[in-house]
Amino acid sequence: MSRVETIAEGVTLYLGDCREILPTLNGFDVIVTDPPYGIGWKRGVNNARSSKAHAGIQNDQDTSARDFALEQSPVPAIAFGSFYAPFPKATKQVLVWHKPPDSGLVGSVTGFRRDAEPIFLVGDWPVRTVESSSVLRTLRGQAGITTETGHPHTKPVDLMKTLVGLAPGQTILDPFMGSGTTGVAAVKLGRRFIGIEIDPAYFDIACQRIQAAHDAPDMFVEPIAPAKQEAFEL
Ligand SMILES: C[S@@+](CC[C@H](N)C(=O)[O-])C[C@H]1O[C@@H](n2cnc3c(N)ncnc32)[C@H](O)[C@@H]1O
Repeated sequence: MSRVETIAEGVTLYLGDCREILPTLNGFDVIVTDPPYGIGWKRGVNNARSSKAHAGIQNDQDTSARDFALEQSPVPAIAFGSFYAPFPKATKQVLVWHKPPDSGLVGSVTGFRRDAEPIFLVGDWPVRTVESSSVLRTLRGQAGITTETGHPHTKPVDLMKTLVGLAPGQTILDPFMGSGTTGVAAVKLGRRFIGIEIDPAYFDIACQRIQAAHDAPDMFVEPIAPAKQEAFEL
C-alpha cells in the first residue's frame, strides 16, 4: 500500500491493490462495488463521438480480482458486472441497470442497444419485504459523466445513491473505487466509507470528489455517526 487518505472520521481511502489491502481490513458491513468486469475492455478512437482511445483498466482480463474481493469478505455485496462474463459464485439475485435511451449504441451489431447491465446481489443478503423494482433506471448514462471525472467507467451518483441506500449496514467498502462515485454517494447519505483504488491517477480523482462531497453534503442528511469502536486495523 502506498498511500492512505483520511477524508473525515469514518471515510478512509487506500491507494493500492485490494488483494493485498483487504485482508488487513475489518469493520465494514457491506461491499458496494463496480469491479473490473472481466471482459478485457478497451476503446479505440471514435471521431464521430469525440471519444479518445483508452488502453483499458487493470485486472480486467478475467473476473479473478472481483472474485477474490467478494469471496474474501464474509459480508453481503452489491457488484456491477457484465452479462458476457461469469457471474459471482454466491449471486443471490441479479438486478438490471437500464441505461438512458441514448446509451448502448457503440459495439452493437444486432440492432439491439447494449443498454442494460447486471448488478449482482451477492452473499448473505438479509430477508426483506418487497419494496423495490429490480430494474434501476437513470437519466444519465456514463458518457457525459466520464468527461467530467476522467474515468471511463464512472457511474451516475444517483444510481450509486440508490444502491448505497439499499445496502444493509452503516460502513460501505468499495475495493475498486475508480473515481470514487460509491464514496461520493456514501458520504452524501451520511454513511461511513472505505475505498481502495490501484491506479494513482484515479485515486487522486476519488480523493478530490469524495472530499468535495464531504465539504458540501446534501441538505437534511445526518452527519457520519462516530464509530462505536475503532473500525480499521492495519
Ligand atoms: C469499473 S472501475 C470503477 C469505476 C467507479 N465505479 C467510478 O464510478 O469511477 C474499476 C476500478 O478498479 C480498479 N482496480 C483494478 N484492479 C484493482 C485492484 N486489484 N485493487 C484495487 N483497484 C483495482 C481500476 O483501476 C478501476 O479504476
